[in-house]
Amino acid sequence: MKKIISASILSADLCNLEREIGRAEKAGCEYIHFDVMDGVFVNNISYGIPVLKSVSKVARAVLDVHLMIIDPIKYIKQFAESGADIITFHYEAAESCADVMDAIHSCGKKAGISVKPETPVSVLEPYLDKVDMILVMTVEPGFGGQGFIYDCLDKIKELKAMLDSRNLHTPIQVDGGINDVTAMRASDAGAEILVAGSYLFNSPDMEKSVSLLKK
Ligand code: DX5
Ligand code: ZN
Repeated sequence: MKKIISASILSADLCNLEREIGRAEKAGCEYIHFDVMDGVFVNNISYGIPVLKSVSKVARAVLDVHLMIIDPIKYIKQFAESGADIITFHYEAAESCADVMDAIHSCGKKAGISVKPETPVSVLEPYLDKVDMILVMTVEPGFGGQGFIYDCLDKIKELKAMLDSRNLHTPIQVDGGINDVTAMRASDAGAEILVAGSYLFNSPDMEKSVSLLKK
């Protein structure tokens, strides 16, 4: 299976975002992963709409926005107008996943739903035929640099089987603790879009690290 790499700029040098995005693109990352944290849904605050606007002016890669915020529907239009290509929200944060997906689709963007490590993938069943991507978190959302939760591999396998049995080719994304070892495990389980932050941005040779992730 072809793997897509989404570079999480949460671990980039934020004073030099343009340079860091260029570095990730040159190294072979197809997506730039943009983590939005509100300090309520997760215990951390990152960056939001004005930064996304600036990033969209310089990024050529697909802008993969991961909303870790409560009440996501409130901000869909603004993120869509600020340059997001894919907007992923959390199942746990949405009052109605169907309504949030509709809001994303009506802005002409791709919709992703994400589940935290504790949330079973069976909850996604009603949305499978509409969603464009599913993000299985492999750490508790909120911080970069955490260790991969191996228990989540079974969830990826279960989700892959759910999709296969419906003849759906919806890509599964994984996020958290991805490195050359865990990337292999996650893709063997069925993931095809791999988010990596600290592994890539702390690497002395990003191009080599990207090729190890894609192996
Ligand atoms: C965590 C974020 C991730 C984070 C991943 O809540 O959603 O995208 O940047 O960082 P690493 O790859 O360092 O685990
Ligand atoms: Zn993320």
